[in-house]
Amino acid sequence: MQLFLGIIFSLGMLIPGKLSLKLQYDGDQVLHIVPETFQQVQHLQHLCRTLLLDLWKPLLPEDIWAGEDMHIRVPAPLVQEAKDSLDEHRISYKVLIPDVQELVDQSMPKERSSHRQVPEGYVYTQYHPMEEIYQWMTEIQKSNSELVTQHYLGRTFENRPMYYLQIRQPSDKTKKIIWMDCGIHAREWISPAFCQWFVKEILQNYESDPKIRRFLQNLDLYILPVLNIDGYIYSWEKERLWRKNRSPYMDGTCYGTDLNRNFNSSWGSVGVSYDCNSEIFCGSGPESEPETRAVAQFIEGKKSDILCYLTIHSYGQYILTPYGSTTKPPSNNEELMYVAEKAAAALMEKYGTSYQVGSTSLILYNNSGSSRDWAHMIGIPFSYTFELRDKGTHGFVLPPEQIQPTCEETMLAVTSIIDSVDQKYFPDGAVTLTSGSLCLSLCLSVVLTWAGFSPM
Ligand code: ARG
Ligand code: ZN
Repeated sequence: MQLFLGIIFSLGMLIPGKLSLKLQYDGDQVLHIVPETFQQVQHLQHLCRTLLLDLWKPLLPEDIWAGEDMHIRVPAPLVQEAKDSLDEHRISYKVLIPDVQELVDQSMPKERSSHRQVPEGYVYTQYHPMEEIYQWMTEIQKSNSELVTQHYLGRTFENRPMYYLQIRQPSDKTKKIIWMDCGIHAREWISPAFCQWFVKEILQNYESDPKIRRFLQNLDLYILPVLNIDGYIYSWEKERLWRKNRSPYMDGTCYGTDLNRNFNSSWGSVGVSYDCNSEIFCGSGPESEPETRAVAQFIEGKKSDILCYLTIHSYGQYILTPYGSTTKPPSNNEELMYVAEKAAAALMEKYGTSYQVGSTSLILYNNSGSSRDWAHMIGIPFSYTFELRDKGTHGFVLPPEQIQPTCEETMLAVTSIIDSVDQKYFPDGAVTLTSGSLCLSLCLSVVLTWAGFSPM
């Protein structure tokens, strides 16, 4: 008995946090393959389907093309079999990640200390579990009450509250809104890290940075730091590589909907699966998930005031424009591209990181039901998906050392977009034509005309 307890106890010590069965990835490898021929593509599709390999890029076997990068996670017990099969078919591969568990372990904080929780001591260069992010939200609004407020948005499937932060400079003026959400996909931890970084940077710099100062006079920022809270918690506690939310299907035989396939934009048409075991299961219908509904209802209610919708993911280094379900470009495509190109150029200036800009269906793959497409379809003119670092070296398990550079460069891109939107809708800056100033200029021109000057 004592021995038994001892074993349980030491197991508990090995696994930080709770005593729970946590999925391990020891010896799992991520392989990089560029198939050269159609035959190779077919064999790879076959391999993925029969061995049930975890495709990281693309997400669907149908989207494997000759000449295009592929990243696959192969579970440890299948590594040899998969490699033998590749050799047999003369498909060359490189090992991108030799041991997934090693990377996973590195991305977990070593210790949790209380100093990590106060706002001045909050460590933005580490990943944080959800409870700390909840606390951070409370603290950040308390210590910046003139600018930040926290608002209830809805509840997750597992009944957790969803809050967004509003950054708003007090003024009587009617302002427009920039929306940004992070963490739709649970395992993309760099995304919530960026939303937190963004809030911190705006609060730290709005007084000194003329660009931020200017756009805050016209625009309120609404930030949802973690959209898929249940999934995020699950990725911390049970499966680091979990992607979806946690709602059960088929009497609980499978779990989770891909929330970025669940919005009401050509729902279920391309690049999705109807199998709830799939990573890209689109749910039982558009907005079948409480998280999707909460966001969609809120945005729908404010859509005439929202000028820009940003949603942050990883990985691949892309700024994606609508649409994913049709190659037909949106009517303002040229402008969307111009603004995104400018943002990518600003990003590159920091560390030389290069981003590709373009429509999802043209530069990545087809997908339907994404929040980006939906936001644009309901009339929000600027709608983009960011796919942050990297390009596959660490994939979904970006080491914490890269949080800072990733957030710094992304900050430049995001503020560039907000600035472009601001310049477009508020071209004369903070000075808008109020009825008072309109009257003044009219009176002035009447007087001037009367005095013999021609106005303008
Ligand atoms: N965040 C995206 C998703 O999970 C990934 C996009 C493309 N990158 C990739 N490695 N597949 O849908
Ligand atoms: Zn994603």
